[in-house]
Formats: sequence, structure tokens, C-alpha cells
Amino acid sequence: MSLPKRVVLVGPMGAGKSTIGRMLAKELGYRFLDSDRIIEQRCGANIPWIFDVEGEGGFRQRETAMLDELSNENNTVLATGGGAVMRPENHPLLKKDAMVIYLKTSIEQQVERTRKDRNRPLLQNDDPEAVLRNLFSIRDPLYTGLADIIMYTDRKSPRLVVRQLVNRL
Ligand code: S3P
Repeated sequence: MSLPKRVVLVGPMGAGKSTIGRMLAKELGYRFLDSDRIIEQRCGANIPWIFDVEGEGGFRQRETAMLDELSNENNTVLATGGGAVMRPENHPLLKKDAMVIYLKTSIEQQVERTRKDRNRPLLQNDDPEAVLRNLFSIRDPLYTGLADIIMYTDRKSPRLVVRQLVNRL
């Protein structure tokens, strides 16, 4: 089996990118990287704070710089933030030496998995479901266009998703 140098997970909030990414990395003997968590560590502040102080634009700038840096890290599984596909200049950074996997997830599952979440500023409003629906309509074609593999995650345990992914790599 010849593995890709990098495995990059894309998909919406609540798709399971971090959970599945960590497990997949372990399975492949790769290092797990989580772009949002590394941004937080570097910045010394959490994502809500970055959105608050620097706005979404400031966060997106940090995100592009992080994706650029991490695009050089081989033997890694990278979990990206749900909006990483929004800037066209990020696309070559996501694709570089990588197998891109879209973790495709229904709106219902996204709502369920992000319920009561305080760390996602885009969902801190009266109607997070409407936000997720709107984001999905914009981003689903972008995720799909970038993906080498589309993996459905609804009604599957992370363990099953990882097993199915390993079989397809
Ligand atoms: C975002 C998703 C979040 C995080 C930020 C913005 C988005 O990552 O990057 O809150 O625009 O969808 P997760 O997909 O890991 O929740």
C-alpha cells in the first residue's frame, strides 16, 4: 500500500474531522495536526477571542498562513476548520501532496454534534441550524470539488468511518 504524503480532512462543523483525524493518524502511523488548535496555541487565545478581536477576516488570515505552513508537513493527517475552503488561495495548500477527504454529513447530524458548543463563533446565535444550512449550500460544492474521496459519516461510529477510509486509501 503506498500512502499519500498527507491526508487532509475537510467538511463542515460537526463532521467529526478532529475525532476521525486523530484515529486515522494513529491507524496510519502518521502525525495528527488540527489547524484550529495550532492557531489557538500560536495565538495564545481561543477562536471566539480571535473572532471577537480580529474579526472573521483576521481569523481567515491566520488560517491561510497556518495551511501554508502545514502543507509542508508530510506523514500527517490534517483536520481543517469548516471554512478552510472559502478562500481560493487555500485550495492549492489543501491539495499539495495530499489525499483530500470530504467528511460529508447531514445538517441534522451537524446540528446534533455542535449543540451547546461555545467554541464556534459562527453558531452563537438564535438559529444555528439556519446558519449551518446556509454554509452548507455555499461550501458543499467547494468540499466536493476538492475531494479525492467523499465519505459519508451519518449514522456511523468514528471507528467504522476510519476502517472504511483505511480501505480506500
Ligand atoms: C469555522 C469552523 C471551525 C473554526 C471556526 C470557523 C467555519 O472549525 O475554524 O469556528 O467557518 O465553519 P470546525 O469545523 O472544526 O468546527
